[in-house]
Amino acid sequence: MGTYVITGGASGIGAAIGTQLQSEGHQIIVVDIQQADIVADLSSAEGRVAAIAAIKDATQNELTGLVTCAGVGSHVPDRGLIASVNYFGTVELIEGLRPALAEHGASVLLISSNSAPMATNPEYVDALLANDETSAIRIAATMAGQPVYSGSKQAVTRWMRKNTQAYAAQGIRMNAIGPGYTRTPLTSAAENDDTYGPAIKQFIESIPIGRPGLPQDMADAASFLLSDKAGFICGAMLFVDGGHDAMLRPDEF
Ligand SMILES: NC(=O)c1ccc[n+]([C@@H]2O[C@H](COP(=O)([O-])OP(=O)(O)OC[C@H]3O[C@@H](n4cnc5c(N)ncnc54)[C@H](O)[C@@H]3O)[C@@H](O)[C@H]2O)c1
Repeated sequence: MGTYVITGGASGIGAAIGTQLQSEGHQIIVVDIQQADIVADLSSAEGRVAAIAAIKDATQNELTGLVTCAGVGSHVPDRGLIASVNYFGTVELIEGLRPALAEHGASVLLISSNSAPMATNPEYVDALLANDETSAIRIAATMAGQPVYSGSKQAVTRWMRKNTQAYAAQGIRMNAIGPGYTRTPLTSAAENDDTYGPAIKQFIESIPIGRPGLPQDMADAASFLLSDKAGFICGAMLFVDGGHDAMLRPDEF
């Protein structure tokens, strides 16, 4: 059985993935800003460096897999925080752990979003992909929350695809899931909000499968993609969204 590190594993989707992997007999190490085996703030460069060192220490290079789930939603008023946690908290952690991941041919799962294809500001996404956190934060501060969020998820997904070949050459399989609307602490506050709630309920009703996603839906997909059963799946972005992406963008494929 293996050892999996899950960022953002204290809550919601990350917590469900942790429970799932534990039920399969794996050891879990949760990295989060709260209630974690390794408490770290992935919004700052120092926090990421500290997290990488603590993970190396805790796993002693026995790393079977990494799930990068830590993220903040589009409602966060500090737009730069969305860029810093969602993009740099993902990419810098994977890069920092790359030698440890290569040691045992580990599997990496990035938690993107089905909003990733809907990013609207190429300058912002380019700054993220150029690893220019200062410019990305500056541009994000001028934008609305939703495009900052979707841009962070598009950049994470494109970063994975750009790096798929080089990582695979080291035996590391990277994939992503794009959750659709999923009922977690991140979304339930907005769903119950007097202003935004009605529009969100309408959005949920438009999901082809007829219900919102649940953290367990994401955990089931994660379990498969991390496992040897997905041994030939590499660089893939799997939408786990009840059909919403297909419904909204049928011809963009
Ligand atoms: N819920 C959805 O509808 C949905 C849809 C698409 C994608 N996602 C993505 O799934 C992931 C998990 O979301 P969730 O809905 O479970 O949310 P959540 O709020 O329940 O969990 C997010 C976790 O990230 C942690 N985190 C936040 N900032 C951090 C920081 N600076 N450093 C370390 N940890 C930090 C939080 O403490 C929390 O445990 C996120 O990346 C989110 O963008 C969620």
